[in-house]
Amino acid sequence: MANAQSIIPVNEPLIGEQEKKYVMECLETGWISSEGHFIREFEETWASYCGMKYGVAVSNGTVALEIAVASLNLTPGDEVILPSFTIISCAQAITKANAVPVLVDCDPETWCMDVSQVEAKITIRTRAIMPVHIYGHPVDMNPLLEMARKHNLVIIEDAAETHGAEYKGRKCGGMGDLNCFSFYANKIITTGEGGMVLTNDEQQAEHLRSLRNLCFRKERRFYHTELGNNFRLTNLQAAIGVAQIERIEESVQKKRWMASAYTERLKTFEMLSLPVERPWAKNVYWMYGLVLNPSTGMDAIEFARRLAGERVMTRPFFLGMHEQPVFHAMGLFQNEHYPVTENIARQGLYLPSGMTITEAQIEQVCQAVRKIFAR
Ligand SMILES: Cc1ncc(COP(=O)(O)O)c(C=O)c1O
Repeated sequence: MANAQSIIPVNEPLIGEQEKKYVMECLETGWISSEGHFIREFEETWASYCGMKYGVAVSNGTVALEIAVASLNLTPGDEVILPSFTIISCAQAITKANAVPVLVDCDPETWCMDVSQVEAKITIRTRAIMPVHIYGHPVDMNPLLEMARKHNLVIIEDAAETHGAEYKGRKCGGMGDLNCFSFYANKIITTGEGGMVLTNDEQQAEHLRSLRNLCFRKERRFYHTELGNNFRLTNLQAAIGVAQIERIEESVQKKRWMASAYTERLKTFEMLSLPVERPWAKNVYWMYGLVLNPSTGMDAIEFARRLAGERVMTRPFFLGMHEQPVFHAMGLFQNEHYPVTENIARQGLYLPSGMTITEAQIEQVCQAVRKIFAR
């Protein structure tokens, strides 16, 4: 009989003793809001780990993208190029700034932005490119960095899913002008909820800090020349983040071990496309994704239903931005098609990939896959 304990969750965070110790310090000293030394330490250590100068911690990854785009002072009609295959946070950060998101398709193997499609989308209104590293694998950044130089564009990296991943030896989130992270509970480094923007530009960092904190002016509190938000992270959350960063190499290793354990067991299933690692990439396999060949007669929803019947929880892949009714209603992306995104959105899901996953659980997941395909 099925029992709740044997269900394998899609994600589970790992909270260690150090996290508890640092959080207790906050509680005992009363530094529980957005002031306190853990905030500064979290910003500095994460920026330095990624090879950037300044970190601005915020309450989640969605608002990290929002203030990053807002800090560009775009004018209505300015364009930002991004992949269709991503979370809505990316596209809505652009529309909230009254700018226009312009989409490209993704690579069928890495599932990241197909950089060969970007140049054709650059117009005189283009101001920025937003590469999104997907499920642990980096975007092929050099062609984008080159285009940005040539056309004077800003690069906003979304490295929410690639903590510790590398592109040609450089950290994801360490290559753009503005680099955004999420620290949600399913991320490699988590603060429960949280986010950060990194930059090398001191003035930009100051502007981002202002946008995070109601745009209070330094010269006179409660005097404003711009509208901001309360997007502050708490010292309690940052305390968890500091402890998590201390363990990042172990966490990345764990994800890479998990991926090799899955791949070893699933590589003989020709109807499944498994995660790849390009020669120039260090994939951190944030989530272990699969794309089912349509010849199986199954889409990801049906596959997920059958896996759930075997007590294995999964998540479907993103649905492309060009397929979102909310954007159609805004007059965006009507009649646009991105076939790779459309295929992986229907055929892709990810398997349990949390920080606490065990070899026995991976074996149980793969047994479930074998059972489904043996039918
Ligand atoms: C690529 C990407 N960007 C942004 C976000 C938004 O982050 P958050 O959930 O912290 O708002 C996510 C969330 O998982 C994400 O996967």
